[in-house]
Amino acid sequence: MTVLVTGATGTVGRHVVQHLLRRGARVRALTRDPARAALPAGVEVVAGDLTDLATLRPAVDGVTAVHLITFGGDYRPLANGRELVDLIAAAGVRKAVVLGGWQEGVLEPAVRQSALEWTMLNPVQFMANFLTDWAGPLRTRGVVREPFGDRKSPPIHEEDIGEVAAAVLTGDGHGGRSYHLTGPEVLTPRLMIRALAEATRRAPSPGGRPSTRATSGADLRRRVTAPCASPRAPSPWPRRRRGPGCRAARRC
Ligand SMILES: NC(=O)c1ccc[n+]([C@@H]2O[C@H](COP(=O)([O-])OP(=O)(O)OC[C@H]3O[C@@H](n4cnc5c(N)ncnc54)[C@H](OP(=O)(O)O)[C@@H]3O)[C@@H](O)[C@H]2O)c1
Repeated sequence: MTVLVTGATGTVGRHVVQHLLRRGARVRALTRDPARAALPAGVEVVAGDLTDLATLRPAVDGVTAVHLITFGGDYRPLANGRELVDLIAAAGVRKAVVLGGWQEGVLEPAVRQSALEWTMLNPVQFMANFLTDWAGPLRTRGVVREPFGDRKSPPIHEEDIGEVAAAVLTGDGHGGRSYHLTGPEVLTPRLMIRALAEATRRAPSPGGRPSTRATSGADLRRRVTAPCASPRAPSPWPRRRRGPGCRAARRC
C-alpha cells in the first residue's frame, strides 16, 4: 500500500513517516519544498500545496490511504476541505486519517460525509509545544513564566501520535472512529517546571502562585515563575517523551 502523508515534514508528520516505514508501508510525503524536506531514504517526496488542488493531483495518484493535516500555511484552517476530499476520493484513495486541532474546520465534516474510511485523531497539547515556548526563556533567562500554573492537561509526545496514525493507516477496525489522544500522565505547568528544576538540580521559585485571579496578561505572566533548567541539562522526560531534539511545534 502507498500512504500519502501531508504535513510529513512537521512535528508529528515525521513520526508518522518513520512508523509507516517500520510497518513496511510505501510512503509518499507531501511538502511545498522537497529540497528542504530531509526525509528518510525510501520515502517518495512530492511537491504540493494543500491550498492549491492542481498541485495535488499527481500526489494522490495510486495512493490507498492518506494522512491529512487540517491547515495550510500560516496555520489557517484549510478552506477547501470539500474539494480536497473530492479529489482524494476520485483518485481511488480508500482511507483517510485526519490529525485535528482544537476546533474543526471544513475538512473534518467533509471527510465524515465522504465514502472514505475515515478516522479522526484529536490529540491534546503536544509536548513539543512546551519546548517551543520554554526553551528560549530557559536559555536566555533560566526562567519559565506560565499563566494558569495549576491547569491540568495530559500532554502527549508527538511520536506517540505518529505511531497511532501509522497503526490506523495500516491496520483495520478504526473506520468511523474518533480518537482523543492524551499522554500517560496528567500534568500542570507547575509540575512540569518542578520536574525541570529537579532534573537540573535547581530549586523552583517559592513565589509561584495560582494565576486564576490575575487581572491582566502581564499580571498572569508575573504570577507563575520558576527558575529552571539550563539548555544543556539532561531531559527530565522519560526517553520516549522527551522534548529536546524535536522539531519546534507551534500552537494551533
Ligand atoms: N501543534 C499542536 O499543539 C496541535 C495540537 C493538536 C492538533 N494539531 C494538528 O496537527 C497538525 C499539524 O501537525 P504538526 O504540528 O506536526 O505540523 P507543524 O510541525 O506545524 O508543521 C507544519 C506542516 O504542515 C505542512 N504544511 C503547512 N502548510 C502547507 C500547505 N499549504 N500545503 C502542504 N503542506 C503544508 C508543512 O509542510 P512543508 O512546510 O514541508 O510544506 C509541515 O509539514 C494539524 O492538523 C493540527 O490541527 C496540532
